[in-house]
Amino acid sequence: MEIIRTVEWMKQSSRTAEAAGRVIGFVPTMGALHEGHLSLIRAAKQQCSPVAVSIFVNPKQFGVGEDFEKYPRAFEADRAQLENLGVDYLFAPDAPAIYPPEFRSAVRVEGLSEKWEGRARPGHFQGVTTIVLKLFEIVRPRFAYFGRKDAQQARIIRQMVSDLNLDCEIVVCPIVHEADGLAMSSRNAYLSAAERRAATILHRALAAMRGEIERGARACAPLLETFRAAIASEPLAKLDYVEIVDADSFEPLQFLRNDCLVLVAARFGATRLIDNMLVRILPKDGERREECIISL
Ligand code: PAJ
Repeated sequence: MEIIRTVEWMKQSSRTAEAAGRVIGFVPTMGALHEGHLSLIRAAKQQCSPVAVSIFVNPKQFGVGEDFEKYPRAFEADRAQLENLGVDYLFAPDAPAIYPPEFRSAVRVEGLSEKWEGRARPGHFQGVTTIVLKLFEIVRPRFAYFGRKDAQQARIIRQMVSDLNLDCEIVVCPIVHEADGLAMSSRNAYLSAAERRAATILHRALAAMRGEIERGARACAPLLETFRAAIASEPLAKLDYVEIVDADSFEPLQFLRNDCLVLVAARFGATRLIDNMLVRILPKDGERREECIISL
């Protein structure tokens, strides 16, 4: 695995691979790698060669008072895991290489970036789309892999790719969970033992909602009410929002239909966690009953 620190070297390596007709796969990350990240890299390895992974804790997507300084950094452990997976390029630039003092541009996907996570974290998605466009331009991937864990991020990146006619296909991969159901996240490391136990309520409450939907519930308000009550039963959990939205527009729904996402964000002490569930309602086909496919 080649460790690349400069933009010029990464560009040169990707241009050479592109010119040789090779299919570049790319997984952007902020490091502190866990199984969620590794699942994206495995998916990339199946479809692409070479595979590039970036590790860059992007200052522009952290708000004032957020955790940029204390965000976990584990370069040596990350490097070893990437080497084991057979990654070809690890692109790990430093901040001045990406944002020199004269840097002045930004990319914003309007509308989608201001809702939900965007409302809770103003400027966050603009920071994400700005860095991802830069990385795409440097790495020139044919396929780029994102986790459904950050469903709104993946939707916004897809919109950017479509709006700006980028020659890159976005692949969205399933959420990887810990054995007790908690969605894997670099931020889980911040949780105390008690908060860590409490945090499983997100997954348990989503799983309970799945049960209700499988039994035929379709109206969103009562589903959300039950969900809020479940979170309220956990004293260490403070719900930020829970909403059932259309998976394309991210607008709230009154009734489940087509592809929907149940989005949730909650705090456990100082740590803010997100999770979601994808609900696909397939309409009645003649005599067949309506079907639903639910992914936690
Ligand atoms: P980061 O939080 O490091 O996540 C990198 C990728 O891993 C994202 O696509 C994220 O959705 C995915 N991921 C995280 N946890 C996951 C899980 N439990 N299961 C499946 N996938 C998971 O997201 C970012 O970094 C940044 O915003 C970035 C896109 C790199 C831009 O800076």
